[in-house]
Amino acid sequence: MSAKKLYPVPEALKQNTNLTPEQYNEMYEQSVNDPDAFWSEQMTQLDWYKTPTIIKNTTFDSKNLSIKWFEDGELNASYNCIDRHLATRAKKTALLWEGDSPEDSQAVSYQELHYEVCKLANGLKKLGVKKGDRVALYMPMVPHAAYAMLACARIGAVHSVIFGGFSPNAIADRINDSQAKVVITCDEGRRAGRSVPLKANVDQALSNDACPSIEAVIVHKLTGGDVPMNPVDKWWHELTEDCSGQCEPEVMNAEDPLFILYTSGSTGQPKGVVHTTGGYLLWTTMTFKYAFDYRDEDVFWCSADVGWITGHSYIAYGPLSNGATQVFFEGVPTYPDVRRIAQIVEKYKVTSLYTAPTAIRALMAHGDKPVEGCDLSSLRILGSVGEPINPEAWDWYYRTIGQSRCPIIDTWWQTETGGMMITPMPTVHALKPGSATRPMFGVQPALFDAEGNELEGAAEGNLVIKDSWPAQARTVYGDHKRFIETYFSAYEGVYFTGDGCRRDEDDYFWITGRVDDVLNVSGHRLGTAEIESALVAHAHVAEAAVVGYPHDIKGQGIYVYVTPNEGVEANDELTAEIRKWVRTELSPIATPDMIQWTKGLPKTRSGKIMRRILRKIAANEHEHLGDTSTLADPSVVDKLIEERLNK
Ligand code: WT7
Repeated sequence: MSAKKLYPVPEALKQNTNLTPEQYNEMYEQSVNDPDAFWSEQMTQLDWYKTPTIIKNTTFDSKNLSIKWFEDGELNASYNCIDRHLATRAKKTALLWEGDSPEDSQAVSYQELHYEVCKLANGLKKLGVKKGDRVALYMPMVPHAAYAMLACARIGAVHSVIFGGFSPNAIADRINDSQAKVVITCDEGRRAGRSVPLKANVDQALSNDACPSIEAVIVHKLTGGDVPMNPVDKWWHELTEDCSGQCEPEVMNAEDPLFILYTSGSTGQPKGVVHTTGGYLLWTTMTFKYAFDYRDEDVFWCSADVGWITGHSYIAYGPLSNGATQVFFEGVPTYPDVRRIAQIVEKYKVTSLYTAPTAIRALMAHGDKPVEGCDLSSLRILGSVGEPINPEAWDWYYRTIGQSRCPIIDTWWQTETGGMMITPMPTVHALKPGSATRPMFGVQPALFDAEGNELEGAAEGNLVIKDSWPAQARTVYGDHKRFIETYFSAYEGVYFTGDGCRRDEDDYFWITGRVDDVLNVSGHRLGTAEIESALVAHAHVAEAAVVGYPHDIKGQGIYVYVTPNEGVEANDELTAEIRKWVRTELSPIATPDMIQWTKGLPKTRSGKIMRRILRKIAANEHEHLGDTSTLADPSVVDKLIEERLNK
């Protein structure tokens, strides 16, 4: 365990806060003992067309699983994120867009946001998009990505954002799974000075009639790059040219889906996680407000991409629903150089910065250089999300970015949870570096052992959540059975997170990482099964097994064991080809770090690959392999150890 140093709540933060320790305790107690009373009060943070009278109606019993919140309530997410602010904050800046190049920037007010969202919403209607239809987005981090999400929400269409780093195959899979009618994209994206062929990737995804559900492609002209236009393609500006800047929001039931977002699991293809309108919006609104101790004059910056859940919850919905001003950044932390984050903080006087351990570790390697000459005095609160933050990275973040003045909220949550679940409250909890600390209101975490016994007190086990919270995913799109199997079958009556966790003697929670075959590479979630299926699709690959291993910057690296087909010679050229293959089949984020060729994989007599052994070898911990006696051919292991790549 790391040093026991405690970081108390800074005195400066105790003044006029949203939440004192006494309030937190009282609210938490009420949230679990009388959820109806608690949420009836919290739900006034949103504007409803019809105020809910039924608050919580949920059961985790796997035979009758049912998750409904605010089920007779009616609202519109885009109305809550835009219109309701116009009376008092029409001129307030909603988005401080900062381009990939430091020379590009643009401020978008709530008024302008309203105008742009309404125009596109009307454009979508013109194309025949209706309430309940799915719309796929494949966008870079430009304001048009936010316009597109909110325009869908405005007309009741379900957005499905596909991260701009995914390849044409991954785009096609997601479009087909959700049966999207329209894709919204850009001519090209930009990343660290290079151009990203977004439109070309969409074209390739749709080629050979691969996505028959698509009726139109809306293309925002960003770079002006030369892109061929096909019969289904419409330029965004032409489509919306004659559209009105007013669009009545669609009245949505609280349980109507707001979006689908694909995420990786331990088996099979990515799952379309479905979030609904009322519970999700209230959760992101409330957690943003309390966890960042939000104040009206704050400048918030979440450095995530809207292609991930963090960008949905803490760029598109949570901050805008609160009427906040936020930085919206197109680029990367290390371009043009490692001071970019600090320069942006100084430029916009950012008060609250929410970023990922992988970015912190990448900067940390440069010592103090990432903050050289930059004024960071505007910062008040720092956040971390996406993976466990190691104490060294925590310490660097705290001292170098936060100048030993700003608390760090280490927020644990998942695509499926919709928003923060376990996090310190900056004005309530003393911090322990590396601990996600205490549950959010309404969240009842528990630790179970492998046999399903609940562990009490200081203990380590599998993390489950014992009762429903408003933002939890309602289903896997088109496959409710898979939803129940994945989250409610490991243990009866509780939600299974897939994470391991330790609770210490002060009841602080420490997430220890995934306990299933899901990797977390630079904060990106990847299923080993997905990467394996891309690998075996290559003509020269007979079999493949993928495991994670500890990686200094990425958190986890991707280690691949491959068996070539009969007669194929495994050489450096083929290794390079395989690496490229995975990049284009799946995504650059899935690129293998190490590829070890082998004539065979360690299998049990029944043919099951023993991943436990492969993980140890990849981590260079082969001295403690444990029992290998059940292997069909134990000699395979010696050869694998001898030829291991991570020495
Ligand atoms: C998995 C979820 C949270 C939104 C972005 C990632 C890991 C996430 C933490 C944290 C330790 C964390 C877990 C989780 N994770 N936050 N603060 N400490 N681990 O969402 O892609 O759905 O991944 O990320 O393993 O299960 P996601």
